Amino acid sequence: DRLPALLAAMPKAELHMHIEGSLEPELIFALAQRNGVSIPYASVEELRRAYAFTNLQSFLDIYYAGASVLLKEQDFYDMAWAYLERAAADNVVHTEMFFDPQTHTARGVAMQTVIDGLHRACIDAQARLGVSAALILCFLRHLSEEDAFATLEQALPLRDKFIGIGLDSSELGHPPEKFARVFARCRELGFHLVAHAGEEGPPAYVWSALDVLKVERIDHGVQSTKDAELMKRLAQERIPLTVCPLSNLKLCVFPELAQHNLGQLLDAGLCATVNSDDPAYFGGYMNENFLQTFAATGLTAKQAWQLAANSFEGSFVDAATKARWM
Ligand code: HPA
Ligand code: ZN
Repeated sequence: DRLPALLAAMPKAELHMHIEGSLEPELIFALAQRNGVSIPYASVEELRRAYAFTNLQSFLDIYYAGASVLLKEQDFYDMAWAYLERAAADNVVHTEMFFDPQTHTARGVAMQTVIDGLHRACIDAQARLGVSAALILCFLRHLSEEDAFATLEQALPLRDKFIGIGLDSSELGHPPEKFARVFARCRELGFHLVAHAGEEGPPAYVWSALDVLKVERIDHGVQSTKDAELMKRLAQERIPLTVCPLSNLKLCVFPELAQHNLGQLLDAGLCATVNSDDPAYFGGYMNENFLQTFAATGLTAKQAWQLAANSFEGSFVDAATKARWM
């Protein structure tokens, strides 16, 4: 069976990963020591044992605790560089990385510290790994729209260092329309727009991400299969869905990988892609997501090729680069 080798070797783009979700327990402990930050876990093993999640919120609580060790520009660089090396090893040739500035600015870390460290790693990735890397700033949806506006204001002096705006964190009870005004402003400013929707939330959140926020991609979106009209819209407009199979498994969105609906999304003609979301927490980087999902669901080599093509089609690279990769 040559499918695993094909999945590993094929060039691909990653469109949905949170850089703070790439912090491995070993790096959390190393940074905690380097910065004199105390964390409520005695060892790497104890921390890893806490990674038993029941839903999105149970993960987010630990994810935000892990990020508390990040203080200096070099910390952000080291985190991003470790991920970019892993991405290169998985034949990821392009990645669009989310970051959550509010998680850091709320602790007194300057916006410039965050963005400069991450951006320097992106520059080095192109030069030293041949990986093209870009940043997407995410607003935390459990916070207010006012807080998002203040965050945008702080980031605008650095606007040349990120390409887009996203929306993440606790989905249920925080519908996209809560951020209508700030997304309208980001659209005027010329940023690419994406939002998490339909991970745990209903199809109505996918509709409002498209129609109110006017996003170009939906992050997750797996609940869309519950709404036939929505599926038609997503297929007709080729709106990319950045699906994260191992994340969905670990956060109990699907009880088993074998029941994941990635195949259904592809069969319906959607531009679905495979991504790692928070690889340090969910048990795998890109190739692990492909390998485990294909092994569990019986997707084919043709579908592997389709997923890779979709990842380039859905990316925010220029048309000429896209044509070269597809
Ligand atoms: N969903 C929402 N917020 C997140 C996620 C996710 O999967 N990962 C990191 N922040
Ligand atoms: Zn995500």
